[in-house]
Amino acid sequence: MPGIVIVGVQWGDEGKGKATDLLGERTEWVVKFNGGNNAGHTVVIGDEKYALHLLPSGILSSGVTPVIGNGVVVDLGVLFEELEGLEARGIDTSKLKLSSNAHIITHYHRTLDKVQERFLGKRQIGTTGRGIGPAYADKINRVGIRVQDLFDESILRQKVEGALDQKNHLLVKVFNRRDITVDEIVEDLLSYAERVRPMVCDTGLLLNEALDRGEVVVFEGGQATMLDVDHGTYPFVTSSSATAGGAATGSGVGPNRLDRIVGIVKAYTTRVGAGPFPTELFDEDGEWLAQRGHEFGTTTGRPRRVGWYDAPMTRYATRINGITDLVLTKLDVLTGRETIPVCVAYEVNGERFDEVPVNQTDFHHARPVLEDFPGWAEDITGARTFDDLPKNAQDYVLALEKMSGTRISVIGVGPGRDEVIVRHDLID
Ligand code: GDP
Ligand code: IMO
Ligand code: MG
Repeated sequence: MPGIVIVGVQWGDEGKGKATDLLGERTEWVVKFNGGNNAGHTVVIGDEKYALHLLPSGILSSGVTPVIGNGVVVDLGVLFEELEGLEARGIDTSKLKLSSNAHIITHYHRTLDKVQERFLGKRQIGTTGRGIGPAYADKINRVGIRVQDLFDESILRQKVEGALDQKNHLLVKVFNRRDITVDEIVEDLLSYAERVRPMVCDTGLLLNEALDRGEVVVFEGGQATMLDVDHGTYPFVTSSSATAGGAATGSGVGPNRLDRIVGIVKAYTTRVGAGPFPTELFDEDGEWLAQRGHEFGTTTGRPRRVGWYDAPMTRYATRINGITDLVLTKLDVLTGRETIPVCVAYEVNGERFDEVPVNQTDFHHARPVLEDFPGWAEDITGARTFDDLPKNAQDYVLALEKMSGTRISVIGVGPGRDEVIVRHDLID
């Protein structure tokens, strides 16, 4: 069972980093296939806490070769900052591989991200401001800069000229900013070229060969299904394919090599940034969840919006991704409640919707139809088997499983590496 995809089910921050880390000891390769340093994964190993953005979480496991796939957008300054940070803490980062086809985030992408958001005013998306959207826009517009362009100065210069041509008009005439020179960009990018060179290769070839040998490859998705540019709550999404299909296009392996699709889902829901969120809470229950779950963004430190578990959303993600297994995280956060409401359907203008409405306007107006489940008071952080859980916690998990359309294979009961209950092995 060598090709395992990890995807977020909701709006990100479900605990994908921890799930990847969980597989780390038994995995030879971890490839990040989408997004960039908009991601923020917190991984807790013993007393050590690591925050990863651009690097795949697998880098924390010594036996893993971490790979940044072609579907990722790479900020080179962030790449080296993150690598140096890990090395200073004794993590060996020397095996990192970087796709020659990955696109580069430059200074003008970061600038455009910020000024475009400001320009949107009330219609802001609430991006992370890392230049993600503008870098992917350039890729699709065919004016992007790729990693391999660093090794041919004349090509690099031509491409930067092409990319800046229209952008400088926009920056100066529309956004009232100073223009950006070709020289400053080329100089900055070239300053990384020799450090990048040893990492760069045909990562698609490496991964296919690894799969041929029967080695385990984990495809680690950033962001999540509801932030996917095609299947999420557009336009309040990120600009990449964060769903399972993106694992193939973003890493250069065929879809038939993806054997297991593991969806990571929180036992409740959170969202950072703007956009619809039917189960969102604005009352003391919301404050209680945010406090207990420490719901502050790893990347921007923004407070996360919080709400109850949304079962139709998980069913939607199961369909879109072909999820074979769910990892239900943060069950421990719900301890201490008399009842736990779960969204089982939506109501839009008096009409019941059992599935996620196809029209965005309906989703914006959707009110959750909530069903209460009995809570539990016992501390569950020490539970290591399903039977260790109090009966009401077991019933909550089983109810979510029934509504989600796929099995819940792993349950998170704390942030630590070993704070999990494994019901079905994710690698077998
Ligand atoms: P990612 O972006 O999907 O990797 O998730 P983040 O790392 O942004 O956010 C998930 C947070 O929840 C991190 O701080 C994790 O350490 C923490 N976490 C993951 N699983 C569990 C769990 O089962 N219980 C608790 N209490 N925390 C968890
Ligand atoms: P991980 O991998 C949560 C959100 C932003 C914003 C929208 C677009 O940690 O789950 P972008 O900068 O990508 O153009 O922002 O997407 N967003 C995330 N929210 N977790 C993430 O990553 C996110 N990456 C982007 O808040 O609403
Ligand atoms: Mg995160």
